[in-house]
Amino acid sequence: MIEHIEIDGVQLNLSRPDDSAGEWIGQREILKQLLACWLTVDERDLPLAPRIVGTPGIGKTTLAVAAGRARQQPVYIYQCTADTRPEDLLVTPVLAESGRIKYHASPLVTAMVRGGICILDEGNRMNEKSWASLAPLLDHRRYVESIVAGITIHAHRDFRCAVTMNDDESTFEIPDYILSRSQPTLTVGHPQRDDELAILRYHLPFAEAEMLNLTAAFLQQAHELNLDYSTRDGIHVLRYAMKRLAQDPSHPVGKDRDWAEALIACLGEEAADLQDLAERKRRTLGGQATPMGLGDFFFDPDDPLHPDAEEDDDE
Ligand SMILES: Nc1ncnc2c1ncn2[C@@H]1O[C@H](COP(=O)(O)OP(=O)(O)OP(=O)(O)O)[C@@H](O)[C@H]1O
Ligand SMILES: [Mg+2]
Repeated sequence: MIEHIEIDGVQLNLSRPDDSAGEWIGQREILKQLLACWLTVDERDLPLAPRIVGTPGIGKTTLAVAAGRARQQPVYIYQCTADTRPEDLLVTPVLAESGRIKYHASPLVTAMVRGGICILDEGNRMNEKSWASLAPLLDHRRYVESIVAGITIHAHRDFRCAVTMNDDESTFEIPDYILSRSQPTLTVGHPQRDDELAILRYHLPFAEAEMLNLTAAFLQQAHELNLDYSTRDGIHVLRYAMKRLAQDPSHPVGKDRDWAEALIACLGEEAADLQDLAERKRRTLGGQATPMGLGDFFFDPDDPLHPDAEEDDDE
């Protein structure tokens, strides 16, 4: 059944909350930081609307959902795209069977009126015009104005929001006045080995230990080499490897072969040799890709590819 609410004589149909599990494994600190943003410490205090940044598939959306679950509030996810118009973000008119216009409240507006949490997901994809409509919401005013429905919608006291952003290139420049309203920046990093193994096991509890370990080792090596393979990539590789194994379980070298095949099928040939990929990436980026401190782990001290060796040449 669709829920409604009436604001200034205009009836709005509400959106549905997200019902995913939102389980966040490991990395307590970043979860605490997000929950701190949403805390109010005094009657006169206001919550913050942080920006959650990190590479694709690292867990930004999952983190925000988990924080919403921790606060026991309904979570609404608004998927931002390059085509998102201000009315999509707020209220859209729909023609009802009766021939009358009905209004549909976006997940954002639903969270505002219900006192829920809104995740503006992949906010970097949204254009400036749409962002502009959110300026009053993201500061002390805490309201939006729907031009289409002709109403001003005030946020419930318990309304909270966060914006997730990828740092990939397929994005708009977000205007400064919006960036200054969406602070602080919380950066999600890759999980440690034990946490990453636990995440893989949580999503694929039926996976063989050997397959789990291969995947966790691959991801950890990729993180150490500063390559952008994410937990999500690992989940996909592992899932496909398990399916291939299930088709032919008795093959003597089955597991290794199926895992290697899944790796290449999901992530491409280049994923099969991470050292080589890291070196090529380093060369194209002029040495910026490998973190200096980690260089010693992966290159011989005498290796001309060692980051420090290159530095010496320049001097
Ligand atoms: N700490 C974690 N606990 C549980 N699951 C996790 C964790 N980190 C990542 N995952 C899992 O990894 C996958 C990718 O996470 P998610 O979709 O949140 O990433 P994202 O950063 O939002 O990606 P994108 O930038 O593409 O939107 C999901 O299946 C998610 O459940
Ligand atoms: Mg996401």
